[in-house]
Amino acid sequence: MAERRINEDYLRELRDKNEISEVVSSYVNLRRHGSTMKGLCPFHNEKTPSFTVYLDTQSFYCFGCGAGGDVITFIRRIDNLGYLDAVKTLAQRVNMPLPEDGFDDGVSNRRRRMLAANREAARFFHDCLMSPQGRGCLDYLLDRGYTMSTIRHFGLGYAPNEWHALCDHLHQKGFSMPELVDANLARKSEKNGKVNYYDNFRNRAIVPIIDVNGNVVAFGGRVLDDSKPKYINTSDTLVYKKGAGVFGLNFAKSSGERRLILTEGYMDTIALHQAGFTNSIACLGTALPDEQVNLVSRYADEVLLSYDSDEAGQKAVQRAIAAFSKVGVKVRVLALSGGKDPDEIIKKYGPERFRAIVDGAANDIEFRLNKTRQPFDVSTDDGKINFMREAVGILASIDSDIERDVYEARLSNDLGISKESISNQVRAARRRRKVGQEREAFRKIQTQSFSSDKSVAVTANLGAVRAEERLIANLVRDPALYRQLGDQLSEELFLSEFYRRVFQVILPYLQNAEQPDITILAQYFSTEEIGRLTGVINAGVPSGNSGAECVECINRLKEEKNKADVGDVSSFSDEEFSKLFK
Ligand code: UTP
Ligand code: MN
Repeated sequence: MAERRINEDYLRELRDKNEISEVVSSYVNLRRHGSTMKGLCPFHNEKTPSFTVYLDTQSFYCFGCGAGGDVITFIRRIDNLGYLDAVKTLAQRVNMPLPEDGFDDGVSNRRRRMLAANREAARFFHDCLMSPQGRGCLDYLLDRGYTMSTIRHFGLGYAPNEWHALCDHLHQKGFSMPELVDANLARKSEKNGKVNYYDNFRNRAIVPIIDVNGNVVAFGGRVLDDSKPKYINTSDTLVYKKGAGVFGLNFAKSSGERRLILTEGYMDTIALHQAGFTNSIACLGTALPDEQVNLVSRYADEVLLSYDSDEAGQKAVQRAIAAFSKVGVKVRVLALSGGKDPDEIIKKYGPERFRAIVDGAANDIEFRLNKTRQPFDVSTDDGKINFMREAVGILASIDSDIERDVYEARLSNDLGISKESISNQVRAARRRRKVGQEREAFRKIQTQSFSSDKSVAVTANLGAVRAEERLIANLVRDPALYRQLGDQLSEELFLSEFYRRVFQVILPYLQNAEQPDITILAQYFSTEEIGRLTGVINAGVPSGNSGAECVECINRLKEEKNKADVGDVSSFSDEEFSKLFK
């Protein structure tokens, strides 16, 4: 719990800017499930997802281990931070100032300055491209087939063929040389004790790399002829990790498609956007670090790999299939032919040809089947049987009946095995998968169930606790209820110390008809408590007659209270109660 409370308007703004599913997605691969999203819990080990993100209440809850809370709680737990540090982390993430000057450690300020310098640099490069000195570069870009409107859309630019053009410009705008070196916009050299700063990008076409929040985080620069190196890119800085950026996602995320076309470079992606494929992105570098893959998986259910047809490109395909499959993103490999990359194909044959390739994309099932088959000699019975055994596993992973049928038929044809016997085996494999998954889910519910709780006092009053929970959930979700019920509500009503405390905390909000949302409550409770509370609040889906439900709960609690006064289970201590959390 924070000793010093942070201004609540600040907290609300912080919460609104840090959309919980976006924050969580950097750590967990989430899949959409109606109004919630699900994934494998990062706080305990599990094979089937019970970790749930609620978009409406901007909270998370794990049915497996009971972890839960708002976005701040999530960061506290996952990064193992105190409350204030978690707030700071999230503030930095969205470039908000820190709640109080005293908390600023300078890092967020440096980040802000760096992003401002980048933005100013992007503007400068673009202006240079449009001025007489950029004529040669503009011709180069137009020759490549980019239109003026594409050039403006992506904010392309030109870095002049000078040593200090950008340095001078940014210096005038108030940025210091060390700041520019930090941002990798300038370099520093020392000769005979004399320090000299010079521009990092010179005489190159410039592509700004913009993140999903619209920040200019890095630059790529291409030579205008055949000299080497062909490209230079911003290296690691405070706002950019080399090789981990994704180009074009700021546009692709609003393309309305969850199927993204992934290319090897920004030039290809720009060409694809211009040709109407606005769902195209480029992963900078082919190493595909986890953070890059996670970021993409937030916006994609399926990735169409559109890598170069050269050897390096095909190696990268294998790596990409492995990386994306790991996070549950489907991968299809585009069969590029007639050109080495999308840019070339579109230029030579037009967008229709590329559209046809996209529509006929060979998918990863085919790729996996071919790969699995390689070591076996399927002209022998042994080879056939052994290959089949593995192929059945691959086919069983296909959820679409039609798609499964297609592959079963194809396999039957290829191997000369009856389709029926293949189908039977695949069906059996699917049944085994399903039984395994259900058993796991059931086990989880059992371990979570209160009936296994050892505390007699707790189980005896389970009904009362349920009533308290429903009451709290309704009040938090619909504070207007307080006005209807006001005089019937008091803290004495609550049997458990915990919910009594919750009631004390939310009461002032209810009195003001304000919503005590989870982000506000998170300031007052431990991460364990806020987890429990989040589970309770999200379970209380508004029923339409929540007023009546509250009255029922209140009556139930009054009854229990009377009973309790006779017996000796007057209330649960927090210690007893905390057993409920386990
Ligand atoms: P390519 O050499 O295939 O470049 O490298 P390209 O995109 O087709 O470029 P154009 O069409 O000749 O302009 C693929 C990607 O690898 C990175 C770039 O991101 C490039 O888009 N790369 C390549 C570098 O970072 N540095 C290099 O020297 C070369
Ligand atoms: Mn190319």
